[in-house]
Amino acid sequence: MAAQSFRPARPARLVVLVSGSGTNLQALLDAVAPGREARPGDADPPYEIVAVGADRRGITGPERAERAGIPTFVCRVQDHATREEWDRALTEATAAYAPDLIVSAGFMKILGRRFLERFGGRVVNTHPALLPSFPGAHGVRDALAYGAKVTGCTVHFVDDGVDTGPVIAQRAVEVLDEDDESALHERIKEVERGLLVEVVGRLARDGYSLEGPEMRRVRLGS
Ligand code: GAR
Repeated sequence: MAAQSFRPARPARLVVLVSGSGTNLQALLDAVAPGREARPGDADPPYEIVAVGADRRGITGPERAERAGIPTFVCRVQDHATREEWDRALTEATAAYAPDLIVSAGFMKILGRRFLERFGGRVVNTHPALLPSFPGAHGVRDALAYGAKVTGCTVHFVDDGVDTGPVIAQRAVEVLDEDDESALHERIKEVERGLLVEVVGRLARDGYSLEGPEMRRVRLGS
């Protein structure tokens, strides 16, 4: 099968989805904040965050967006009669901002069929383990319980499985004898934030293609 190529608009319009503290969102915000130090040869930010969506209230992620003057929306499963209706509502709320790319940055919900039909191939997720090991909601806890000596983080495209989409980039983090889940997760997140900013910047700046027999090999640049 021929390669599929994507070249987002410049700057790419990003919608970021969050469920928690939003430190990955903050890293994405800081990287394109007015007055940031421009990278050599790249004076223009590669992306702009046009909205931040959440699946719950009372979390700090959306507050970070509001402080930066970025619109937010909340779409809670419990406010909808069925999961399909929630999927439809989240798809519409996101589509209203006409995103080129969507980043799931600690968004703890499986995205629905309609959402992926609309935005498939343009939804990026960050996961705190080296996929395909330790997918799901407890990637850090599961790696620790298994006794892995090296874990890390994965930035990948979202498909209709649980953390099964094409891998874009990964970074390793050593597991220390004294680690508990929270200490290990914090060290992973330090690495993860840098990786996510770098990957989203490159996707937005250079475009990307999916190649190979299974269309799983991601090549940055077009
Ligand atoms: C991140 O470590 C992210 O990989 C993880 O939630 C954290 C969010 O942190 N996501 C998952 O576990 C998804 N399965 P943040 O809210 O501080 O950005």
